[in-house]
Amino acid sequence: MLPSLLLLLLFAAPHPGKEPAAKTADAGDGPTYTESGELRLPEKYREWIFLTSGIDMSYSSTADPAHSVFDNVFVNPNAYRSFLSTGTWPDKTVMVLETRAAEGAASINKRGHTQSPGITGLEVHVKDNSKGGWAFYGFSNPVSAAPFPRTAPCYTCHQQHGIVDTTFVQFYPTLLGIAKEKKTISPEMLKELAPPAPAEAK
Ligand code: HEC
Repeated sequence: MLPSLLLLLLFAAPHPGKEPAAKTADAGDGPTYTESGELRLPEKYREWIFLTSGIDMSYSSTADPAHSVFDNVFVNPNAYRSFLSTGTWPDKTVMVLETRAAEGAASINKRGHTQSPGITGLEVHVKDNSKGGWAFYGFSNPVSAAPFPRTAPCYTCHQQHGIVDTTFVQFYPTLLGIAKEKKTISPEMLKELAPPAPAEAK
C-alpha cells in the first residue's frame, strides 16, 4: 500500500524544470530549413488554421472533368492571428496546399464526393524575408523540399491574380472580409473580385 502511494505522490509532484522548455518549443510555428537550405515539411500543418477547400478549380475552361480533386489550404496560427489584426501576412507566414482525389460512392455515401485518405500533392508558400520574401515549394517526399526557381509559373500566376500579397485571399472566406475592411487589396487587385468575363459568342 505504502509504496504505491509514494509512487502516486511522485507522479503527482510538479516537475518545475520541464515547463519552460515546452513553452519555448511551442513559441514558433514559422519555417525551418535543413542544413542544405531545403524547407522542412511543416509536420503539424493539419493542426493549423483551415482556410478553404476548393474542388476541381481550374484556370482554363478546357480542364479535364475526369480528373476530380479537392485542395485544402492551411496557414500557421501565428500568421493567421496577425492577418486578423492587419489584413495581410507577416514575415514567417507558411501556407500549405494539400490535394486529395475526389472519391465517389462509398460507405453510406451515394452521390457527391468525399476526399481520398491518401494525399496526392503537397505545396507550400512561405514568406521569409531573410530569404528574399515569398517562395514556393513542392514536396515529393515527406521530409524537405527545395524552392521552385523564380521563373516557375507559380510566381507569375500568384503575383498577377492573388489579391493579398500574392496569396488567393479572394477564395478564403474567413479572410476576404478582413482584407476589405483593412483595405489591403490594391485597386489593381480589386478587379480580380469581378466574375470572369462570359465566354465569347460563336
Ligand atoms: C494559374 C494560376 C496558378 C498557378 C500557376 C499556381 N497557383 Fe497556387 N494557387 C492558385 C489558386 C487559384 C489558389 C487558391 C486555391 C483555393 O482557393 O483552394 C492557389 C493557392 C496556392 C497555395 C495556398 C496559399 C496561397 O498562396 O494562396 C499554395 C501553397 C500554392 N497555391 C502553391 C503553388 C505552387 C507551388 C505553384 C507552382 C508549382 C502554384 N501554386 C501555381 C493559382 C495558381
